[in-house]
Amino acid sequence: KRPAGAPDKALAQKVTKIGVIGAGLMASQFALLFVRRLQVPVVITDLDQGRVDKGLDYIRGEIATLLGKKRISPDEANRLNALVSGTTDKRDFADCDWVIEAVFEELGVKQDVFADVEQYISETTILATNTSSLSVEEIGAKLAHPERLVGFHFFNPVAVMPLIEVVKTPKTTDEALATAMATAKNLRKNAVITRDTPGFVVNRVLAKVLGEAMFAVDSGTSFATVDEALAPLGLPMPPSQLLDLVGLKVGAHVLDTHHAAFPERFYRSENLHKLAEYGTLLEKDAKGKVKGFDKGALKIV
Ligand code: 3HC
Repeated sequence: KRPAGAPDKALAQKVTKIGVIGAGLMASQFALLFVRRLQVPVVITDLDQGRVDKGLDYIRGEIATLLGKKRISPDEANRLNALVSGTTDKRDFADCDWVIEAVFEELGVKQDVFADVEQYISETTILATNTSSLSVEEIGAKLAHPERLVGFHFFNPVAVMPLIEVVKTPKTTDEALATAMATAKNLRKNAVITRDTPGFVVNRVLAKVLGEAMFAVDSGTSFATVDEALAPLGLPMPPSQLLDLVGLKVGAHVLDTHHAAFPERFYRSENLHKLAEYGTLLEKDAKGKVKGFDKGALKIV
């Protein structure tokens, strides 16, 4: 059955080589998924060789873990390792037919990244962004061919979360959309097509839940209490853990974007920004409950 709003799948372009811009948390996870499921060469890039190497190390480490768990054979591990490469030279993207970015969630940065990469790719290359809550259409504003851009939003942990939000802007062509849908299917993910609205569908709901959880914490309720209170709702993990998994910086950014779009409806947590500066700090006690955080000026019980 064709998913709601999906174009004719015959319009999908073949994907034979993938370029990944960004080698961070999300990008390296989906780069690995691309090689595993699509078995095509994947080249990753970032600002400098150090970042590229970190991403490659993660991918090669995960391949070694899969091998250790006997999920893949030694031959398969060798094949996957050979399919992944890193570069700081965008000319290596010239023959990619699918290029996806997961760089810093800042509109100007993403716009520049796409405007830059467009100089190196062919006319027919499809571009995708993993943005979690920025407008896909605005991200493509500096592209000569914005109609080739589609949103392709993965969830963390990429290997296990079954959904991809495919975001269609008013400009996205049926070819780009069909290619995104076919790619999601080949990744064995369930894809839904969403409109280009802040937070799409999932983050819109998550921002509400996590924002209200942060409001409670900022008002003096402990993280442990919030986690315990929300347990009966059946969330797959407590809010503190989910924020930690998503990354506090990303979490704070998602709340900011929603607050900027709908100030009355979404809470912005200044404390979450301060917490994010320290990285991951939701320290747990022996029972796995969040202990709270006390670093001078910033105290969260
Ligand atoms: N990377 C790779 N695999 C992972 C993983 C990770 N970080 N974490 C867990 N897994 C795998 C495990 O290896 C295991 O696989 P196996 O059964 O084949 O061995 C499987 O997932 C289940 O793991 P566990 O049994 O250890 O743990 P749980 O049953 O508790 O499941 C979970 C873990 C799937 C992470 C679950 O807690 C969950 O669904 N949490 C919610 C995650 C969520 O909501 N993510 C969305 C965040 S929002 C987002 O990403 C959008 C962004 O834009 C902000």
